[in-house]
Amino acid sequence: MITEPILQLSGVARDFFDGKTQRRVLQKIDLAISPGEFTIVAGPSGSGKTTLLTIMGLILKPSEGDVFIRSEKVTGYPESKMASIRLQHYGFVFQLAELLPALSVFDNVVVANGIQGKSISSALKKKAKDLLESFGLQNMFHAKPLQLSGGEKQRVAIARALINDPTVLLCDEPTSALDAESSTIVMDSLKRLSQDNTRGIIMVTHDPRVFPYADRLIKLENGAIASDSKSSS
Ligand SMILES: Nc1ncnc2c1ncn2[C@@H]1O[C@H](COP(=O)(O)OP(=O)(O)O)[C@@H](O)[C@H]1O
Ligand SMILES: [Mg+2]
Repeated sequence: MITEPILQLSGVARDFFDGKTQRRVLQKIDLAISPGEFTIVAGPSGSGKTTLLTIMGLILKPSEGDVFIRSEKVTGYPESKMASIRLQHYGFVFQLAELLPALSVFDNVVVANGIQGKSISSALKKKAKDLLESFGLQNMFHAKPLQLSGGEKQRVAIARALINDPTVLLCDEPTSALDAESSTIVMDSLKRLSQDNTRGIIMVTHDPRVFPYADRLIKLENGAIASDSKSSS
C-alpha cells in the first residue's frame, strides 16, 4: 500500500546562538513520516530531539529548509496561520503530562476547546468519555491530577492530545518519568493509536526500554540522522 507522507521535512536545519557564536544543533534533515507506523526518534540528551520535534510541530522555525503537512508547504506561513494549523492538525504530549491541577481529568481533556472559546458540545463530551474509557480511565473522570499515578496522568495527556483528531501526534519523552509498568501501558496505547492510517505518530525519547515498540526507529546523533530502520516484525 502506498500512503502519502503525513509530514515531511526537506533540508531542515536549526541554529542557535549561545552568547556570540552560532551553533548548528540540527543538521540538514530530510525525512518523510508515514501514517500507520509508529516512528520513534531516539538519541542521547542534547542530540536535538526536542528541537526536531518542535520544528515538526510548527512551534519552532527552522533556520533552513521546509516543513510539509501532507503535501502543503507550511514554512513561511504567518504565525496566525501556523497557530490554526497547529490547532487543527496537531496533538502534543510532553514528558510531564502538564495537566491543569485544579481541573478534573475530564475537564483537562476538553479544556482546550473551552480556551479557544468554542462551546463544549455534547458530541465533544461523548468523545472525551470514549477516549478516557479507551485508556482504561473510566473510573477517574472526576479525579484531580494529584490523585493520579504518572502513567495515568500521561494517558490523560494522550486523551487530551487526541480530542481534536490530530493528523500528527507528537510525543516528547512521554515515558521518561514513568516506572516500567506505567511505561508499558502508555506505550501500548501509543502503539494501538499508531495503527490508524489517517494519523502519524512520532515520539522522541532517550529511553531504550521503548525501542521495541517502534515500527521505524530513527537514531539522532549530534543533530543528524545516524540510522533509520524499519522493524521487520
Ligand atoms: N533555545 C535554545 N537556545 C540555545 N540552545 C538551545 C536551545 N534549545 C536547544 N538548544 C541546544 O540545542 C541542542 C539540542 O537540544 P535539544 O533539541 O533540546 O536536545 P534533546 O531534546 O535531544 O535533549 C542542545 O545542545 C541544547 O543546549
Ligand atoms: Mg528533549
